[in-house]
Amino acid sequence: MDREKPKGSAGQSASILVVDDNPVNLQVLVGMLKDRGYKVRPVPGGKMALLAARRDPPDLILLDINMPEMNGYEVCEHLKADDRLKDIPVIFITGLTELPDKVKAFAVGGVDYITKPFQMEELHARVETHLTLRRMRGDLEEANSRLEQRMADRTADVHRRTVQLQALALEMTQVENRERRRMAQVLHDHIQQLLVAAKMRLESLDKVPYKGGSNFQKFYDILDESIEGCRSLAIELSPPILYTGGLVAALDWLARWMLEKYGLEVLVVVDAAADPGDIDIKAFLFQTTRELLFNTVKHAGVAQAQIRLRFGEDGLVELEIEDQGKGFVMENASGTPRLGTVSRSGEGFGLLSIRERLELLGGRMEVDAAPGRGTRISVFLPT
Ligand SMILES: Nc1ncnc2c1ncn2[C@@H]1O[C@H](COP(=O)(O)OP(=O)(O)OP(=O)(O)O)[C@@H](O)[C@H]1O
Ligand SMILES: [Mg+2]
Repeated sequence: MDREKPKGSAGQSASILVVDDNPVNLQVLVGMLKDRGYKVRPVPGGKMALLAARRDPPDLILLDINMPEMNGYEVCEHLKADDRLKDIPVIFITGLTELPDKVKAFAVGGVDYITKPFQMEELHARVETHLTLRRMRGDLEEANSRLEQRMADRTADVHRRTVQLQALALEMTQVENRERRRMAQVLHDHIQQLLVAAKMRLESLDKVPYKGGSNFQKFYDILDESIEGCRSLAIELSPPILYTGGLVAALDWLARWMLEKYGLEVLVVVDAAADPGDIDIKAFLFQTTRELLFNTVKHAGVAQAQIRLRFGEDGLVELEIEDQGKGFVMENASGTPRLGTVSRSGEGFGLLSIRERLELLGGRMEVDAAPGRGTRISVFLPT
């Protein structure tokens, strides 16, 4: 007969171990199964069945229950206790027809139960069903492990990218800082010096009697203003004290500067030990503080604020900027405020970019604000 051969787990003909102590039964079963195209291995007893299964695990086992020495239930229990064999489907074949016998067959791990005398068609159908189930389970496990592998690959990929992003964020912070210093230097060393030179020339001209004093004076004032503008822009961009005196001194300077320029009184409470070593981190925390104090000036409607800098748990530097002003509304229930005005390109650092930059640097920001209750923004950063 041109019948397609039943396939086992490895894609070849399914191999079936048939276990029966009765030689006649064994012969009949083996003959019938071979006719159907299976690879059949007959064994006449329980112990031999275990040896044969361990030597070469079959795709399915047909197991007689009543056998001397070791009965089918025991054989099945041994199979189920063996990691390599426990997934092989076991179909019991027996003359026992009592319900407790059937229940026990399932209890010890059998997948099915056929009573003698059996119909070949029924036996074949059950064998096929369990072979198919086993194959499907194998396929499913394979698909599952492929999926797990893909997920592990993705996770590793995400991790790699996160590390790259963090490195990039740090680099961005360094570049921004370097650029600020460079611009401050150009302003101070070049433009400011040129303006000073022009002013000196003008002063020397002034010694010569010259008509039109008021225009002259105006020119002189413009130069003075430009010099002052350059000086203060250079300091704003990159205050030298950050480099000479560290973060704590720079925050004190910032407080004085905020008072002078904007009338904002800033109380500075700092733990000198919390000054981070890394100059780029110092500069980042300084710019963040400045940005948050600007927010107080622009939005809070009060003339006082407080800065707190300390070493917190887990070795994180904690920076807190607080005011008792208007506060603001959290945009949604999850507590995310409407952060930043990112659409106004080129403008502002904004809360959003502070938060994003912090997260990339391995830190975080917490916003505690409500209308009428003031605003407290806490920044946590590893150093
Ligand atoms: N200290 C504060 N008091 C009251 N409202 C504040 C305070 N800080 C922030 N806000 C509110 O949160 C919003 C977002 O602040 P954010 O700093 O991100 O943007 P911005 O200050 O409006 O613009 P910019 O991009 O120039 O910083 C502000 O527009 C303001 O409504
Ligand atoms: Mg702002």
